Amino acid sequence: MNVAVFSTQEFDQVYLTQAAQQSAISWRWLNESLTPETAHLAQGCEAVCAFVLDDLHEPTLNALNQLGVQLIVLRSAGFNNLDVAAAHQLGLTVARAAAYSPNAVAEHAVTLLLTLIRKPCVAQARLKQADGRLNGLLGFDLKGKTIGVIGTGRIGSQFTQIMLAFGCRILANDVIENASLIQAGVQYTNIENLLAQSDVVSLHCPLSNDTRQLLDRQRLAQMKPGALLINTARGGLVDTEAMISCLESGQLSGVGLDVVAGEESLFFSDHRNEGIINTAIAQLVNMPNVIMTPHQAFFTHEALTNIAQATLANLQGWKTGTIPESNRL
Ligand code: NAI
Repeated sequence: MNVAVFSTQEFDQVYLTQAAQQSAISWRWLNESLTPETAHLAQGCEAVCAFVLDDLHEPTLNALNQLGVQLIVLRSAGFNNLDVAAAHQLGLTVARAAAYSPNAVAEHAVTLLLTLIRKPCVAQARLKQADGRLNGLLGFDLKGKTIGVIGTGRIGSQFTQIMLAFGCRILANDVIENASLIQAGVQYTNIENLLAQSDVVSLHCPLSNDTRQLLDRQRLAQMKPGALLINTARGGLVDTEAMISCLESGQLSGVGLDVVAGEESLFFSDHRNEGIINTAIAQLVNMPNVIMTPHQAFFTHEALTNIAQATLANLQGWKTGTIPESNRL
């Protein structure tokens, strides 16, 4: 089977090649992102393998369909960049890597949180300048603090377990409550109450029409003054401009972001020559109370191994009708 791999990074080649060693899959490595304009690069391929920044809305799907592509597999859990209904209407099979490593993302959310609170990056940068002073590095204990978790699925529940082990009180919000988390002491509540009470809010729900700008200007204003916000889910969940205003006013004392609206203009490639063209992102990375990473929460050896294996299972399962149920979209 010929598979066009859009937005190929070096690590994709390493892990996908390794996973598919014994298979009859022939990879076409493409550096280009998938758009209606680049879809023609999949000519002659039955399947397309895409990533988070690839555009899988109707025009691209139409172009792929006309080329004879029949299967689209995502190397991601999130699928907000794919119009599932349009794909189904065209008779395309679509699948994702649903649960490759919730731990990788949950642990990264904790990393962002601890980095905001304890400021090791600031301390290290200072030490490199022979500055060993502690001023400005004052943190606080997480034990006893209230953490609001929005979305308690695979990643959110893992994040919750870690925070419980820190001795935190957890308030959660989800359209489906997780009984085992309730048993572990988690309290589900409405979003307004969660925002008003939480010292830290961490986002772990998918981006959809229901959740776009879930944290808009009004909701951000409802947060406990001086709270921290962690977003490892999707940038579109938050109104970026309003978030910047809250950082400037102190309504938010800090944010930890692995994802941000407009990230496609910066993340996953080298822009050192032209600089950061997205003004909101440029502003955020230069704020002292912001820690930002380039959508790397998934980027662990275990996660990449599992993504490659899930991708292979989706490709091989297509002909035999055995794509894992949880991966099917
Ligand atoms: P999941 O599907 O297991 O869990 C999502 C949870 O959000 C579910 O429990 C669902 O009921 C809940 N939810 C849906 N709508 C909601 C709403 N309106 N309000 C509150 N909760 C709502 O998904 P998983 O695997 O935990 O991933 C969550 C998200 O994390 C993905 O959709 C993706 O966007 C993001 N992600 C980010 C990565 C990164 O590298 N930064 C890597 C993998 C995923």
